[in-house]
Amino acid sequence: MKKIKISPSILSADFSELGSEIKKLEQAGADMIHVDVMDGHFVPNLTIGPPVIKALRKYSSLTFDVHLMISPVHKYIEDFANAGADIITIHPEATDNLKSSILKIKGLKKKAGVCLNPESKIDLISDLLDDIDLVLIMSVNPGFGGQKFMPEVLEKVKKLKILKDEKKLNFDIEIDGGINFENSKLAIDSGANILVSGTTIFKSNNGDIKKNIELLKSH
Ligand code: DX5
Ligand code: ZN
Repeated sequence: MKKIKISPSILSADFSELGSEIKKLEQAGADMIHVDVMDGHFVPNLTIGPPVIKALRKYSSLTFDVHLMISPVHKYIEDFANAGADIITIHPEATDNLKSSILKIKGLKKKAGVCLNPESKIDLISDLLDDIDLVLIMSVNPGFGGQKFMPEVLEKVKKLKILKDEKKLNFDIEIDGGINFENSKLAIDSGANILVSGTTIFKSNNGDIKKNIELLKSH
């Protein structure tokens, strides 16, 4: 059976206690920490930037899975690498030259992720899959936590998994947005091996994050 990883989004955490929230996630069995960076321009919401990521770094040795919803993204890649990101995921629409942004991330010895919005097609990245470590499939329009899962994106997950197997590539397939105990199995069966979740992990079962991580993995 393939190993499923859970990457809780700290967007739903208590922002006044982020350090201890991250520690709790690690103790509860999280595999990574998903950090949503928003600029109020590429998406209509603002969150955190490199100084906060740097400050959080000492609270956990888990992989920091940093999802950049900022444009233009290229000139900030180094700041996020220096702040302690392990995976840096960017949107193709946020850079003039996707390949050079991916190579920049890899040149900084970080894993390079590319994120496809619900409307974005696999064609945007199909020539670059050899260089990509992770493809993040959005199952909501990015910008806010707590939105409703869009089941139509599962077709894209399936296509990507077929492409990955055909080309014998190793990139991870991560899915982000509205993941809950009902649709997690569908996402996994479609080919996703990393699930991002904010609302379900922090709010379900009275905020029992350990139980919620276990339930998402076992579905
Ligand atoms: C949305 C973010 C997601 C989001 C996930 O723009 O990229 O990571 O916070 O939160 P839920 O699980 O609440 O949809
Ligand atoms: Zn995200």
